[in-house]
Amino acid sequence: MRLLVTGGAGFMGSAFVRQAVARGYKVCVVDLLTYAGDTCRLEEVKERIAFYRTDIRDREGLEEVFRRERPQVLVHFAAESHVDRSILEPRAFLQTNVEGTLNLLELARRYPLQRIINVSTDEVYGELGEEGRFTEDSPLRPNSPYAVSKAAQDMLGRAYFRTYGLPVITVRPCNNYGPWQYPEKFIPVIIVRALRDEPVPLYGNGQNVREWLYVADCAEALLEVLEKGKEGETYNISSGIEKRNIEVARAVLDLLGKPHSLIKFVKDRPGHDFRYALDSRKIKKELGWKARTSFEEGLKQTVEWYQKNLEWVERKLRDLRKYWEKVYQGDP
Ligand code: NAD
Ligand code: TYD
Repeated sequence: MRLLVTGGAGFMGSAFVRQAVARGYKVCVVDLLTYAGDTCRLEEVKERIAFYRTDIRDREGLEEVFRRERPQVLVHFAAESHVDRSILEPRAFLQTNVEGTLNLLELARRYPLQRIINVSTDEVYGELGEEGRFTEDSPLRPNSPYAVSKAAQDMLGRAYFRTYGLPVITVRPCNNYGPWQYPEKFIPVIIVRALRDEPVPLYGNGQNVREWLYVADCAEALLEVLEKGKEGETYNISSGIEKRNIEVARAVLDLLGKPHSLIKFVKDRPGHDFRYALDSRKIKKELGWKARTSFEEGLKQTVEWYQKNLEWVERKLRDLRKYWEKVYQGDP
């Protein structure tokens, strides 16, 4: 089966592509290679995939790929994916995540597909207090420009299923972590900065809660959805592993043998959602998927990966420093 994977050179997309290739799928990747994209993540499968450096905002460019590849399945990861950047510069988020998705769905009306997996996020539901979990039927109340752009992407998929009968399946994963994540997201920020004995920035009081899923487990879930999921349905994908940010920071520092005194509380993220947590009984019951990797094991694998791949991080550091300066306003 021929898959077209957008954003396949990103953190989650590349984990998915590596597993899909191992399962025997024929994969073609479309990725613009923004600051977040990197073909190094696809090194081990590069002989077995086709790669197009194409912008999903570019309708003609995308059509050329569809014409040449005639994919049977679309797995749509490509996005501007970081909340803090969306606060600094919202426009790119609306353009890529909404218009880019619209371009793909429009093409799907003309180049019939058997399945479209639209990768949304738990952030579309908005925030929770200390209790409760979002189910697939919870209302969408997105709070950041990122979350709003993803909610629009998510709802476009719904509209194209209802209105045009496209075989869209929506997935809403919780926070992913693991090897190859760009060090703008929380866990690799902690690792990369602590490895260099630099302060680790925690927003607000560090009590916010996230649910953490190892990226390889998420890729497995997506393959299950692709193979067994039902058109028009939405599946939450999560692990049940909830942690306060301060707990995560301490756990990483312990693994690295670094002092907790590296933690520095900085100005809170504007509009910071307090807690995300998903009820993922549906995917367990209907597709038989559940997360396999414990937080201890996943975090150990992740930390070891960064320790072994310092060169990759080194190559990103110049851009990262500029970005960190902007986002933390020189604070930590
Ligand atoms: P990422 O930022 O690591 O990767 C995004 C990829 O999309 C990059 O390779 C980038 O080059 C590419 N891209 C960006 N703009 C593009 C454009 N205009 N045209 C073509 N390619 C473009 O993101 P990720 O963490 O791998 O997330 C993948 C998807 O999963 C996103 O849709 C994100 O919203 C969603 N998601 C992420 C998480 C998480 O914890 N990381 C959780 C839930 C959902
Ligand atoms: P992040 O990895 O950006 O994911 P998201 O905002 O999509 O959940 O952040 C995870 C949590 O960590 C979130 O509550 C914000 C917090 N955080 C910090 O405290 N410091 C940081 O430097 C970053 C990047 C995030």
